[in-house]
Amino acid sequence: MQQLSTRHLLGIKNLSEEDIQLIFETADSFKEVLNRPIKKVPSLRDITIANVFFENSTRTKLSFELAEKRLSADVVNFASGSSSVKKGETLIDTVNNILAMKVDMVVMRHSSPGAPHFLSRHIRANIVNAGDGTHEHPTQALLDAFSIREKLGDVAGKKVAIIGDVLHSRVALSNIFCLQKLGAEVMVCGPATLLPKYIRDLGVQVEQEVFKALQWCDVANVLRIQLERQQIKYFPSLREYSLYYGVNKKLLNRLNKEIVIMHPGPINRGVELNSDVADSDHSIILQQVENGVAIRMAVLYLLAGLK
Ligand code: CP
Repeated sequence: MQQLSTRHLLGIKNLSEEDIQLIFETADSFKEVLNRPIKKVPSLRDITIANVFFENSTRTKLSFELAEKRLSADVVNFASGSSSVKKGETLIDTVNNILAMKVDMVVMRHSSPGAPHFLSRHIRANIVNAGDGTHEHPTQALLDAFSIREKLGDVAGKKVAIIGDVLHSRVALSNIFCLQKLGAEVMVCGPATLLPKYIRDLGVQVEQEVFKALQWCDVANVLRIQLERQQIKYFPSLREYSLYYGVNKKLLNRLNKEIVIMHPGPINRGVELNSDVADSDHSIILQQVENGVAIRMAVLYLLAGLK
């Protein structure tokens, strides 16, 4: 049986193309399971998984929990806001206490970049990074690339524009690594203040006019403006951002081709993306969410076999 080259999923950076293809092929099988009347398989029976979330989440948390339950794992959920973290307990103490209850895998979201990497050096359980600050969000990138493969047949050779708040986005970095490993061309587009200084070193094209980015690409992955991570003003107002960088139907109508629109969610409707695009036939936003469950089933299943 083929195996992943790593026992933790900390980021896309450390995955090989073969790892990604193995996750996709495994997700294909689980997607078929998810379309059956009985959507459950016994693959992770007797495996206990803790979802440890130190930051808010809707999609990722529900998607992991559903994936775990579809695989028949036992699941415990931890949300820092209602935990003893509020009394000053540290990350390592929190996780060690959860592991003392005989947990096999930890799915963790944390606002500090590197938190799951730190944890992986101190505990025996398999760790899955469900988003670490502005660093990586590997399962989001996997489900994004899987959705492009499903929609366009292949990722290799496709042009993908990542538009918006790249500076604060873990989705952007993981997408860049994943898409490049699979042979896609990547462009980033946004105001200069929202593009990291190192971005060209990652081998991506840089564009500041959103219409030119849309003209260039086959797929536009529109990112959320992350106001909660912005301590200073990166642009004058949301209205001005929307005027210059918002993706709307009028812009798409000026293109002489059809493009695919993606967004990792949650959407700031009317800011980075208008409803006339988010809810249109161009958009595969809800297919991304659907594919997230199959991708997370594949990741958990493959990691569970590696001790
Ligand atoms: N895409 C994503 O990570 O969404 P949540 O923050 O709701 O999990």
